[in-house]
Amino acid sequence: MPALILDGTKIAQQIRSEVAAEVKAMAAAGIRPGLAVVLVGHNPASEIYVRGKVKACEEVGIYSEKLTPPDSASTSELLAVIDDLNRRDQIDGILVQLPLPRHVDSKKVLLSVDPAKDVDGFHPMNVGFLSTQRPGLVPCTPAGVLEILQRSNIPISGREAVVVGRSDIVGKPAAMLLINANATVTVCHSKTHDLPAVCRRADILVAAIGRAGMITRDFVKPGAAVIDVGMNSVTNPAEFQRFFAGNTKREETFRKRGSTLIGDVHPEVAQVAGALTPVPGGVGPLTIAMLMFNTVKAAKMRRGSRVPELSRA
Ligand code: GUN
Repeated sequence: MPALILDGTKIAQQIRSEVAAEVKAMAAAGIRPGLAVVLVGHNPASEIYVRGKVKACEEVGIYSEKLTPPDSASTSELLAVIDDLNRRDQIDGILVQLPLPRHVDSKKVLLSVDPAKDVDGFHPMNVGFLSTQRPGLVPCTPAGVLEILQRSNIPISGREAVVVGRSDIVGKPAAMLLINANATVTVCHSKTHDLPAVCRRADILVAAIGRAGMITRDFVKPGAAVIDVGMNSVTNPAEFQRFFAGNTKREETFRKRGSTLIGDVHPEVAQVAGALTPVPGGVGPLTIAMLMFNTVKAAKMRRGSRVPELSRA
């Protein structure tokens, strides 16, 4: 039986409408959460992501501001931008879109964000809160992975979870969230021996490597839930054929655009997995939904009020 396809767009929409209801309730109390997005320079992918974030704010009723320092902005100029946002009461969330230009000291910039406004959850203080199970701001994409699992009623407690990828943004926080949800967690990376064998242990397999279609069927235990965090653009026709031969819908997109999006999971995995997130339409939409959630959470935490709980499906 082919895998159950987990509809991230639908789950994200559900979360966005819950957040919108919360924003409406806050408006009645005279509070409007505000998000500032800092986009340095003209990275085309970043521009698309930021547009999506600003549009989502409008949709759920969050005030948003986009700041666009030039490519040439220095570390100290960016620190001054952040310092100003840290001080402004109207701003509850600050997101610095990555990657920053090479000459900028990214770690220094991220460290300068007030942890209470750090809606990306990248500040070491929020990393520490997550690892010690204290309330804080959790990175959006890993938080979205957990929401997909929980809202799809995929059991986590006591299960074997394998995370492939150890990035600070996805792999490590995803592993931490799974540990906190009582999974038995293994984190794999480029030096892991016999990666397919380790992955085959997983009841829940999270792929966050950044390599197109790397997770093939021999990595997957039959019936496992596979969460694909990868977003890779395929432009090479031979590579396209390797992944999508016979998929008429994909062939049409590829012909029209000259590229198509693929995750870290090979499409053939749908024949062995029990459940699978598609790309696009899986984890991606959750990232923005959780950013909206974090902005409301930050607005509430800064005011010392109850942190909103997302309702469980
Ligand atoms: N660039 C790619 N993903 C992300 C993310 O989750 N947050 C930020 N700030 N930048 C990104």
